[in-house]
Amino acid sequence: MPLIKILPDWWIPEHQATSESVYLNRRQFLGGVIGLATVLGGCATPAQKAKPVRAQLNQAQLKALAARRNSNYTLDRELTDEAIAATYNNFYEFSSGKEVWRHVSKFQTHPWAIEVTGLVAQPQTIAIEDLIAKIPLEERLYRHRCVETWAMAVPWIGFPLKALLAKVEPQAKAKFVKMTTFQNLQQAPNQTMAPPWPYTEGLTLAEAYHDLAFLAVGIYGHELPKQHGAPIRLVVPWKYGFKSIKSIVKIELTETQPPTFWNTLIPYEYDFTANVNPTIPHPRWSQATERMLGSSDRRRTLIYNGYGDLVSHLYA
Ligand code: MTE
Repeated sequence: MPLIKILPDWWIPEHQATSESVYLNRRQFLGGVIGLATVLGGCATPAQKAKPVRAQLNQAQLKALAARRNSNYTLDRELTDEAIAATYNNFYEFSSGKEVWRHVSKFQTHPWAIEVTGLVAQPQTIAIEDLIAKIPLEERLYRHRCVETWAMAVPWIGFPLKALLAKVEPQAKAKFVKMTTFQNLQQAPNQTMAPPWPYTEGLTLAEAYHDLAFLAVGIYGHELPKQHGAPIRLVVPWKYGFKSIKSIVKIELTETQPPTFWNTLIPYEYDFTANVNPTIPHPRWSQATERMLGSSDRRRTLIYNGYGDLVSHLYA
C-alpha cells in the first residue's frame, strides 16, 4: 500500500531549492560548456548515494589539529556525520554538482599564504603554518544553513576573524572586509565558466569583528579536506552558506562595500547581507524550512540560523 504523507504548507521539494546550481547549470547548458549529465547532477541528494568510507575520502591522511572546544557555542541538534558533510559540498570552482570531493585531486593547498592588505597599518602575507602557530586554535560547534535549504552542524577548528584583523591594525577609514578565493585554471577547471572568478565575499567591519565570525583551518579534529575549503575558509553561521568563502588567499579592508560573487551574478536573489531569515523567501522558493544533511525530514528555519541573540543588534 502506498504511504500517503500529508505535507505541511511550508514544505517544498529539495529540487526546487538548488539556487546557484540551477542558475549555473543553466548558464553552462546554454553556453555549451558542459553537458546534461552535470545539469542533472546538481539535484542528487546524499540519501541517494552509498556512504563513502573515510579512506576513500583520504580524511585519514589529514593532519590532526589539537584545539580546545569553546563551550560558549552549543548545538540544538546532532552533529552531522563527517562523511556526509564531506561528500555534499558547494565549491563551484571544481564542480556545480555536490560531489566536489571527486574533483579536487589536482588542488594544491600546500604551501599556502594569505595576504591581509588594504586599509591597514600593518599589511602582511602570512603562511598558513605561521598563522596557526601564532593564533591559538579552538573548536566550535556551529550550525550551517545553505541558501538552497540544506543544513548541517559541524565542529570547526580555527580562530575568530578578529584575531587576524587585530594583527594588521585596521585604519579608521576601513568599513568593509573583502575576501578572495584562489584562482587557478589548471587545478580548478570550472573557473573557465562565465561567472566573475575568483569567488569573492565580504562583510561589514562590525560583522567581521563579531566573535562568531570564524576562520576555519580544520573540521572534525583534523585539517580541512579540500572540498570544505582547505586550507582556510570563513564561517559566518548566521548568514547563508554562500557568504562562508572557501580557500581564501586575500583579505582586504576597504572603505566601500566590495562586489561579491553571487551578488554580482544575481543581485535580486543574493544580497550582500544574506542573513538567514525564514520570513523572506528566496524569489524561487521558501526559506521557511531546512533539511539537515543525512535526514529527509524538514525542520523550521531559525531567524539568523538561531544566532539572533548574539547578532541581531548588528542590524537594529
Ligand atoms: N567558496 C568558494 N570559493 N566557492 C564556492 O562555490 N560555495 C559556498 C560556500 N563557500 C562556495 C564557497 C556555498 S553556496 C556554501 S553552502 C558553502 O561554501 C558550503 O560549504 P561546505 O561545502 O563546506 O558545506
